[in-house]
Amino acid sequence: MSAESNTANRPGAIVTSEIRDGVMTIVTDSPPVNALSAQVRAGLLAALRDAEADPAVKGAVIACAGRTFFAGADITEFGRVMAEPTLPQLAGAIEACAKPVVAAIHGTALGGGLELALACHYRIAVPSARLGLPEVKLGLLPGAGGTQRLPRLTGMETALGMIAKGDPVEASEALHCGLVDRLAGEDGLIADAVGFTAEVAALRPLPRASERAVDCDPAVFAAFREANARRFRGFEAPNAIVDLLEASADRPFGEGIAMESRAFEALLAGTQSAAQRHLFFAERAAAKIRDVPPDMPQRTIARVGVIGAGTMGGGIAMAFLSAGFPVTLVDASEEALRKAAATIGGMVDASAAKGRMTGEQARAAMQRLMPTLDFASLADADLIVEAAYEDMTVKKEIFARLDRIARPGAILATNTSFLDIDIIAASISRPADVVGMHFFSPAHVMKLLEVVRGARTAKDVLATVMTLAKRIGKIAVVARVCHGFIGNRMLVPRQIHAEALLMDGATPSQIDAVHVAFGMPMGPFQMADLAGLDIGWHRDPNRIETLRDAFAAQGRWGQKTGAGFYDYDDKRRPHASPVAEALIARFRASSGHVERAISEEEIVVRTLYTMVDEAARILEEGIAQRAGDIDVVWTQGYGWPAYRGGPMFWADTIGLPTIVAGLEKYGLPVAPLLRETAARDGRFNR
Ligand code: CAA
Repeated sequence: MSAESNTANRPGAIVTSEIRDGVMTIVTDSPPVNALSAQVRAGLLAALRDAEADPAVKGAVIACAGRTFFAGADITEFGRVMAEPTLPQLAGAIEACAKPVVAAIHGTALGGGLELALACHYRIAVPSARLGLPEVKLGLLPGAGGTQRLPRLTGMETALGMIAKGDPVEASEALHCGLVDRLAGEDGLIADAVGFTAEVAALRPLPRASERAVDCDPAVFAAFREANARRFRGFEAPNAIVDLLEASADRPFGEGIAMESRAFEALLAGTQSAAQRHLFFAERAAAKIRDVPPDMPQRTIARVGVIGAGTMGGGIAMAFLSAGFPVTLVDASEEALRKAAATIGGMVDASAAKGRMTGEQARAAMQRLMPTLDFASLADADLIVEAAYEDMTVKKEIFARLDRIARPGAILATNTSFLDIDIIAASISRPADVVGMHFFSPAHVMKLLEVVRGARTAKDVLATVMTLAKRIGKIAVVARVCHGFIGNRMLVPRQIHAEALLMDGATPSQIDAVHVAFGMPMGPFQMADLAGLDIGWHRDPNRIETLRDAFAAQGRWGQKTGAGFYDYDDKRRPHASPVAEALIARFRASSGHVERAISEEEIVVRTLYTMVDEAARILEEGIAQRAGDIDVVWTQGYGWPAYRGGPMFWADTIGLPTIVAGLEKYGLPVAPLLRETAARDGRFNR
């Protein structure tokens, strides 16, 4: 027998319900991801009240239509007054319901969506479902009871990983740890959930997560904080989460919930969460190209070629292999190919050991790799990524060969990090097929991909590469052509000013310490030592024109020679170097600079404000489409701390007039866009 509920089924309603065999199925259909907006919450509560009031109903199933169960609170509502019922109120009402409520999960049950499921009395999921509390990635914590209910269901270890790190779990793992009660058939979720509800309808008392006790060793919290100290450095949310999980173990549920609510509000009002929420939307906006429609027809990419078996080429090959593409890897050196295949084999094994792929997938990935000396075997590739030596003559030669052998319509990409791709494109007969794909090292790990759009790159080539980026797990940002594109171009003023500060009296460790305290993984001189001080060196030890020349001439080439701006021990840990400082002092004196005391403020202005200034020029020149794209490049590619939202968001936070005043104080130029935006008290990110 089937009947319709009377309140929830108005025409066009997002939440509808149906009663079958005494079980009410409440279905939300709010594309794209069933976020728990005010309208959805109100619809769910109304349907739940119907189920409670109707004597013919013995239990309810909460499910979603479309691609996923609720993917969380509606992030666009954050920062506004939350309309009632709030998510915590809705979760409380579900748990308090006198009839069993079952969450039927498919797709991804995330954030507030999973919290709602935790408040249900039972959870059933399809095997392909993933469940997670990723709020920490938005600088937040689960604010609807998640920190108090999850550890009561799964135990503390799982809860710490899922909430403080934001790691989701697969359905099978969720079943194992007590997060879900049953797995459904992949295609019969609702029917299985209704059957399950009927089965448990008469059981009392109803299992309520809030009524369970948490059993854990109190030492687990300190150990967890210590083990993750590096990862959590500078972030407010993870520590607040561990505090709340600790509270779940030794305080009554009601007290824990009140603490959670206060902590959530505090984080929501803070700058860190605003920064991380900005990045969430910026990463998605970056995929959109203003003059390329979303339905642009795309080229088919089935086979990939990579030229150059060095570190970059190997990493790029690995990124495509992991995503299931066959890859032909070409190099002129047999030795380089052999080494690259061995390194890729090691990377694939490591991925398998970490559970990122099964043993079978690892074997299949290696079978898809075809290392070869034969350039002509690239003839059937749909995309060819050149990752050879960073030299225009070399690149032009390779592209001329590609022009002769690549199939018509193949996309010809270069991984150059600085060179003018328009010159490369103009040197062949098919410039519209040429695009930049600037991967970041290690290319199979780093999520950023700068997609460089040449003056003549075809729109369908761009659209294809953006889609492909998502398929290989990258976050793509479009850049127009200039020296260094978005990311590396901003490194230039930072390095120039950092070295100028040395001439004025600062030490490398003093400058690096300011950057590390700011939240960067390393400072400009640690980075220079890592990259190698011999890069671009003219190789004449008697020609000392720059500070770099002075270091290179002494064999202080950075980490690779155990000495650069720092001395390195056998574990590659940097130590302030009296030898380097003496070298700097000598060069300072010989070039007529006078040593003076350098303040932290001066370091911030000259090495960070100048980056903002360069970014404003990048925006003004149309090299980047939007300020958020620059923020994505620096957070995903260079370790700019996510809790500061990227250089443009950070500048907005401290105020553009402050940036302008700082630059002027030190006699530095101010980009017109920066000056204009500051003058009208505007922001880069709207
Ligand atoms: N709120 C509002 N909009 C959301 C959203 C959310 N929770 N999740 C996704 N969207 C939007 C995206 O911005 C995107 O919009 P556009 O198409 O306009 O760019 C659209 O939905 C599709 O998203 P994706 O492009 O990310 O789609 P995908 O298929 O690659 O991934 C997903 C889907 C895994 C659900 C991913 O969107 C995701 O991880 N979402 C966020 C999940 C999350 O963080 N939830 C916690 C929210 S905070 C919370 O719930 C706090 C609380 O406890 C009270």
